[in-house]
Amino acid sequence: MARPSEQFTCQNCGETYRKWQGRCDSCGEWNSLLQSTADVAVPSGLTTGKGRNLTFTALNADISDYKRTISHIGELDRVLGGGFVPGSSILIGGDPGIGKSTLLLQAVAKMAMAGAPCIYISGEEATQQISMRAQRLGLADAPVQLASANSIRDIITSVEKTSPAPKLLVIDSIQTVFADNLPSAPGTVAQVRASAQELIRLARKTGTSVILVGHVTKDGQIAGPRVLEHMVDTVLYFEGDRGHQFRILRAVKNRFGATDEIGVFEMSDAGLKEVANPSSLFISSPDKTISGASVFAGMEGTRPLLVEIQGLVAATAQATPRRAVVGWDNARLAMILAVLDTRCDLSFSGSEVYLNVAGGLRVQEPAADLAVAAALVSSVSDIPVPPGSLFFGEIGLSGEVRPVGQTDARLKEAAKLGFTTAIIPAGSKVKSGPMKIIEIAHLREIVSLFSETKPMTRAV
Ligand code: TYD
Ligand code: MG
Repeated sequence: MARPSEQFTCQNCGETYRKWQGRCDSCGEWNSLLQSTADVAVPSGLTTGKGRNLTFTALNADISDYKRTISHIGELDRVLGGGFVPGSSILIGGDPGIGKSTLLLQAVAKMAMAGAPCIYISGEEATQQISMRAQRLGLADAPVQLASANSIRDIITSVEKTSPAPKLLVIDSIQTVFADNLPSAPGTVAQVRASAQELIRLARKTGTSVILVGHVTKDGQIAGPRVLEHMVDTVLYFEGDRGHQFRILRAVKNRFGATDEIGVFEMSDAGLKEVANPSSLFISSPDKTISGASVFAGMEGTRPLLVEIQGLVAATAQATPRRAVVGWDNARLAMILAVLDTRCDLSFSGSEVYLNVAGGLRVQEPAADLAVAAALVSSVSDIPVPPGSLFFGEIGLSGEVRPVGQTDARLKEAAKLGFTTAIIPAGSKVKSGPMKIIEIAHLREIVSLFSETKPMTRAV
């Protein structure tokens, strides 16, 4: 049998190496390798016929025990796919201070008040700090069982002894708990993996839903172990800009629901408030006319969401002009600039380009291409987009504008919010409605849209 040997594990991505090195080849993180014991190879000879027989069941087996527990926070339930599935494990990640602890405290308090036993274990804050927050949020009377602990052995023992078994167990955060039979420090890959495994096992055994809070590194990954994402059933990210009050809860993996739904919250002095109808949050009024701003009619899951896209093209003398993007994909901006340059003879090579999605939202749909192009062309020409207009459509490398899905839902919501003109891809299937539709087949038509009318007053 192979002798257990030493190895070095990257604390960021979990990659292992035989020798120490300064930088992880896999994720590029510096100084993240720590010595650990290599897994012992599995001895052969498992197929000797000594295992137990498995019981197979049919797909239509009785699942009445699998009734979801709702959290009484509508936006959270929406992202989870309709509440917590018994025995499931959920990882929730987000920047420090974004509101993870606040959201989970509100959830356990509401569930406890509705009669579902809940346990909240914090490894970061003392129980007094949590009580203080609960009192400030007016949740102090909720029968939540609260503890401050770090040892996974203590946590498992206490939860197993709790009767009736809790419906929800929150561990805030997984990086602060440790298993005492491992030599490495809390927060290392080995510790996080072992603790999570124990908690997931506990969840399956007792039918409790377990929420693990995970810190996020500066490049947006859950710290250390991406392996955690494979182990749990659901991965949620809590996003948003701390400078803005809006917070988005997004599912990136969900074994029990769709992953394209988002939950929208607003951070107030009374904690996180749900925003049940977020479609108009990220736009200013439709008749405002400044150059460089366009409105994108997007979809987040089943809900339409209108978002203001702001572009700024500024002249520069620098050899490599800056391109900066907030809330959108960098590579996609580079592509649109290249298409505008090659197919529409609009050069950005001597200009700095800034793109911003208003309100701290992150737009992921390619359907935003047309709105981005409109904002950029509007900024270059210093002509505002037509008042009351909105854009959506995907742009191809040849400059063609392609139809996107859910045209009607986007148009209906925009009409409700007072928009009058939709500039959309040619060939979109539009049912008749109150909107004036301008169909665009090629990006060139967007450029000519901004050159037909000369501005009345130019900013000097
Ligand atoms: P917290 O929930 O502790 O964040 P995390 O657990 O993700 O690190 O932090 C919340 C932040 O929100 C903190 O900076 C203070 C602020 N906040 C409010 O604005 N209103 C409130 O009612 C609460 C509880 C926090
Ligand atoms: Mg916290």
